[in-house]
Parts: sequence; C-alpha cells; structure tokens
Amino acid sequence: MTLRESLLGPVLCVVGARPNYMKMAPLLRAFRKQPSLPRAVLVHTGQHYDYALNDRLFQDLELPAPDVNLAVGSGSHAVQTAEVMKRFEPVVDALKPSAVLVVGDVNSTLACSLVAAKKGVAVIHVEAGLRSFDRSMPEEINRVLTDQLADLLYTTERSAHENLAREGIPPQRIAFVGNLMIDSLHAALPKAVPAEEVVRRAGADPACVRQAHGYGVVTLHRPSNVDEPAALVEVLDILRAVAARLPLVWPIHPRTRASIERAGLMAALAHPRLICLPPQGYLEMVGLLARATVVLTDSGGVQEETTALGVPCLTLRQNTERPITIEQGTNTLVGRDRAKILTCIDEILRNGGKRGRIPELWDGRSADRIADHLSDWLRNRSRAAT
Ligand code: UD1
Repeated sequence: MTLRESLLGPVLCVVGARPNYMKMAPLLRAFRKQPSLPRAVLVHTGQHYDYALNDRLFQDLELPAPDVNLAVGSGSHAVQTAEVMKRFEPVVDALKPSAVLVVGDVNSTLACSLVAAKKGVAVIHVEAGLRSFDRSMPEEINRVLTDQLADLLYTTERSAHENLAREGIPPQRIAFVGNLMIDSLHAALPKAVPAEEVVRRAGADPACVRQAHGYGVVTLHRPSNVDEPAALVEVLDILRAVAARLPLVWPIHPRTRASIERAGLMAALAHPRLICLPPQGYLEMVGLLARATVVLTDSGGVQEETTALGVPCLTLRQNTERPITIEQGTNTLVGRDRAKILTCIDEILRNGGKRGRIPELWDGRSADRIADHLSDWLRNRSRAAT
C-alpha cells in the first residue's frame, strides 16, 4: 500500500477488553460529528467476550456493534497477542486504513499497534505515556511498546509527557487532551442505576447500603492480587476486616472468581456484610461508585473515576501509572497493608478522607478535542504526502 493510498482509508478503532469501551464510546460519537474525519470502523478483537464484560457494556455505553469482530477469546499473553495480530493483519490489508487508533494498555492495544506499524499505517495511541515503572505488570509492557510504535500520542495527564520525553518520543507527536473515561462518566451519571437498586437486582438486601456509614465498593482483578493463593488469602482477610466496619459491595471479575474457586477459598466470601455480585454493567458500576463512602480497587480506570467523583479510593497496589489521582485526586496507595488500610478506613469514616480536586482537562470534553486535533493531523499528513 502506498502512503497516498493509505491516507484515503478509514480509521480503524480497536477495542479488546472492558476498560477500552469507556474510552471508545465518546470518541466514536465525536468522530461522527466531525465531517472532515474519514469513516471510523470499529474493530473488536474479542479479548473479552462474556455478556457481563462485553455486550452489556456496549449497550450501556451506546457503542455501535463492531464492524469487525476478531473473536480471539482468552489465552496466554503470547497466544492472545499473536492471535490478535494474525487476525488483524488481513483486516488492515482489506480496508487500507489511514490510521489505526488504539486505546489503553491491554494486549489488543499492543497487538494491533504492532501490525499497523509494520505495515506503515499510522498508529494513534489514546492514553499514552502512563507508567507504573513496574515491568511485572503486563499492561506496563503494553504501554511502553505501544508508545514506541505510535505516530500520534494523546495523553490524559501532564506526567505522561515527562515519561515520553525520557523514552525519546518527540514532543510534536504528543497532544494533551484530558481523559476520555471522564467523558463517559459524565454521560452515564444521569442514567446511573442507584446502589440500592443494583444490590436489590442481584438478590441482596438493599438495606445493606443504607447503613450509617454507607457502603464501600471493591473491584480487584490484577494478577498480582488475585492469581496467587497467598495474595488472595491476604486480600480476603483485609476485605473481611473492612466489612466489619462498613458493608462492602464487590462485583467479582471472572478472573478473580475463578482464582478464588481454584484456591478453595469460596468460604471466605461468606460474610454478612460482604455483598458479592457478578460483574456489573457500566450504569450499575457508576451508580455504585457515585455514592460510595470508599472504594477499594486495583483497577486503573476506577482510580480515575473516583477522583472525578470525589470519592476516596484505596488502591491495593504498590504503584500507579496515574499519579495525578494521588497528587490531586482522592487516591491513596495501600498495597495489601492491612494495618494501613484499616487506618485509612477509620479516617474516612471519621472525617470523609481525602477530598481532592478535578485534574486539568478531565472535563468531559476530551473526545471533541481528539476529533478536532486528529482531523487537522490527518489533513496535514495528507498534504505532506502529496
Ligand atoms: C484484561 C486486561 C487488563 C484490564 C482487564 C479488565 C490485559 C493484559 N489485561 O485483564 O488490563 O484491566 O482486562 O477486565 O490485556 N474471562 C472471562 N470472560 C471474558 C474474558 C476473560 O471469563 O470475557 C476470564 C478468562 O478466564 C480469562 C481471564 O478472565 O483467562 C482473564 O482475561 P484476560 O483478557 O486475559 O485478562 P483480564 O484479567 O480480564
């Protein structure tokens, strides 16, 4: 494919796993409003395929059905990444895109970037430059490599620019646009399902979220917290100790549930104030988070959502690639330090905990910023090629 040929093609917009959908939904809406952009083609790699992790979120976010579904499913990192690459390559060959746009840091993000870069197709990375500096996280490897491959990098916070500069990415490739997660959050808040209703629908007693201290929300799925039985035992012990102070609502990720079952730890979930739910839709999750007293998580997106909502967040990790949620937001890193977590919980119950403020450009308008910038960028590229 010549460069000129490729400049006329669509923009392939890639999603693979749950956290990608909240970023892509507002972007596709903004792209539709921007007439000078080429057609957006939504490609789903199929990394996530369960109704709860996938279809339900597509509905809640009003995402259109994917134009292309690669249906790769689960597998080891190598297998999953390789399968995405094998199945994505013919799509690029057939559609001759002007660019491939990827979001976040999942395996599908890196796999599609690699295919595009080797075919000379422009790679656009949304949520570039975030670094945990922890290479034991698969996402960190995906982030570093995707940013090296990208021609255009959109960032959510200014710390990303320093990280990218350190890795030799020229500043003219980078644009600070704010956070698409917050665009989706703003769109969902008026439609969010109240926490009591979420709990009732799941067959639990809604009174449990109406108690004096309110309730906490838990989300945990990182391999470092849930894959090893020893870590899981610590996590479950912490959650039971926190539940003794306030009820906890926990939508359990399939990876985590499978791991608890494998380790024979299901009995530890039987606690009257630990309300275990299946994975929730986006409107349910936003409803739960919005009114929570505290959130315990290891998710990247939830750290951002709690900062935007002003809800205290305890992150069960040693590091975060989203430092702004700590410096300006409501986030505190607690690892699996039981004593520290209980001290934080007591403080939150006493005085509400960390207040925080809304980070720069987390204003719900990031998608429009990207659409405008991308339209100019593609036009300039097209001019330069002719
Ligand atoms: C993936 C992302 C992670 C993201 C998370 C959100 C990578 C490396 N990880 O992690 O960054 O935060 O999604 O959920 O890309 N499974 C199902 N149904 C599904 C998909 C997965 O039951 O629809 C189960 C399978 O047993 C699978 C396991 O969950 O083996 C893990 O799925 P996988 O996509 O490998 O990673 P996640 O842990 O979901």
